[in-house]
Amino acid sequence: MKKLAVLGSGTGTNFDALFKEFGSQIVLVISDREDARILEKAKAAGIEAIFEKGGPDLCSRILARLEGIDLVCLAGFMRLVKEPLLSAYEGRLLNIHPSLLPLYPGKDAWKQALAAGASETGCTVHFVDAGMDTGEVILQERVPVLKDDTPESLHARIQVAEHKLYPEVVKQVLAKLTS
Ligand code: GRF
Repeated sequence: MKKLAVLGSGTGTNFDALFKEFGSQIVLVISDREDARILEKAKAAGIEAIFEKGGPDLCSRILARLEGIDLVCLAGFMRLVKEPLLSAYEGRLLNIHPSLLPLYPGKDAWKQALAAGASETGCTVHFVDAGMDTGEVILQERVPVLKDDTPESLHARIQVAEHKLYPEVVKQVLAKLTS
């Protein structure tokens, strides 16, 4: 059985969705924020939960923790991934982003969509490369922008789509990984 790790900085609702689908296949959660809800959730689920503080060698320290891990899922991880992690997990490092990339990369993508007057946005699961939300797109899900949307209501609607899309893509990627 393939083993997964999840990296996140925040509330971990995508972790919840992945955990629901993959359960004990998720063996490790790492956060760069000591107080992140995602760490509390991982601990409550009986999963090893590690805080790694930021710094120039963060990605080396993360990589050192990943022994035996087949696939790494970023879920609200608010840092750029760097070497040596990038090369070690090429094709096995995924991220979810709350827009239809390449539109609205970076922070608060749903606010960017509202500011642009877009009639639809969505979410994207993509492979991670050295850029900010620039890696190869795997799959996207469209989400309508409604006339009376606030940033909160739009983000909530996108997250519903994320929680469906991410486990689906992880399943597809796992199926393609050779042991
Ligand atoms: C999600 O909207 C994801 O697309 C973005 O950060 C947010 C993380 O939310 N990269 P959560 O921590 O999974 O609830």
